[in-house]
Amino acid sequence: MDLISGLKDKVVVITGGAGVLGAGFTRALANQGAKVAILGRDGEKAQKLADEIISNGGQAIGVSADVCDEASLRKAHTAINESLGLIDILINGAGGNHPKGTSSDVFFDRENKAEGLQTFFGLDTEGLRFVFDLNFIGTLLPTQVFAADMIGREGCSILNISSVSAFHPLTKVVAYSAAKAAISNLTEWLSVYFAKEGIRVNALSPGFFLTEQNRTLLTNEDGSLTERGNKILSQTPMGRFGEPNDLDSTLLWLCNPASRFVTGIVVAVDGGFLAYAGV
Ligand SMILES: NC(=O)c1ccc[n+]([C@@H]2O[C@H](COP(=O)([O-])OP(=O)(O)OC[C@H]3O[C@@H](n4cnc5c(N)ncnc54)[C@H](O)[C@@H]3O)[C@@H](O)[C@H]2O)c1
Repeated sequence: MDLISGLKDKVVVITGGAGVLGAGFTRALANQGAKVAILGRDGEKAQKLADEIISNGGQAIGVSADVCDEASLRKAHTAINESLGLIDILINGAGGNHPKGTSSDVFFDRENKAEGLQTFFGLDTEGLRFVFDLNFIGTLLPTQVFAADMIGREGCSILNISSVSAFHPLTKVVAYSAAKAAISNLTEWLSVYFAKEGIRVNALSPGFFLTEQNRTLLTNEDGSLTERGNKILSQTPMGRFGEPNDLDSTLLWLCNPASRFVTGIVVAVDGGFLAYAGV
């Protein structure tokens, strides 16, 4: 097994591949010589990143699809096969949160009647469904569509993107934490299901990375940290947010066909967040 060139010419689909972390995954894989298909709702944004990779000598295409919409995924599948060939590796990177899937209180307080307070009891079904659909169904559906290419071939794998909130649910963030826990669970289930076919399934659980998704939660307009941002850093032994390329080595390790006996694991990359009890 070739540790150095194991990813060369592999066809890799990255859902959410033009997002902050997704673009990091895409560039890291393209740097290894992989042919990357960048899938996102915004096809233009995906193609712009593909053009950057092509101008640096790589092979890439941008495809527009919604990870919750099977028909659009099937269309993207055909376009990827025609342009790059059969898919070897799938990175399920699309995901995110929604304010309607979160409470605004950390602890329930029956005396608290503050205006605009969003307790567990008032959580909106639509918001909860949105978060479950995007994260869980948005991981399962692309796997159904793209993993079909992996049957009967060697060196294929799937990498799901979970979160540290799957291990320890984050305060307020009820739907996202539960949906990411479902992704970790699905990762193990799929790893068993596909084991005899040799398709490996693992997950990467990022800690806290500053991205568009959480920038306003973690930083103020002047760039200083919000109370929540400060709290997170005080609970992260390494004392900083992650940078997208902090994930590169774990991504490449889990995707490299040389990691042929590694399946069904969920790896946290979190600066020590999960190990820290706070005392
Ligand atoms: N940022 C963090 O600290 C952090 C921590 C843990 C896990 N994650 C996870 O990492 C992944 C990437 O997140 P990010 O922080 O880079 O966020 P991001 O918002 O920058 O990227 C998400 C990408 O997914 C795309 N997307 C959203 N809905 C989609 C849909 N229905 N169909 C297709 N594409 C869709 C978006 O357009 C975007 O390009 C997500 O799964 C997120 O939950 C992020």
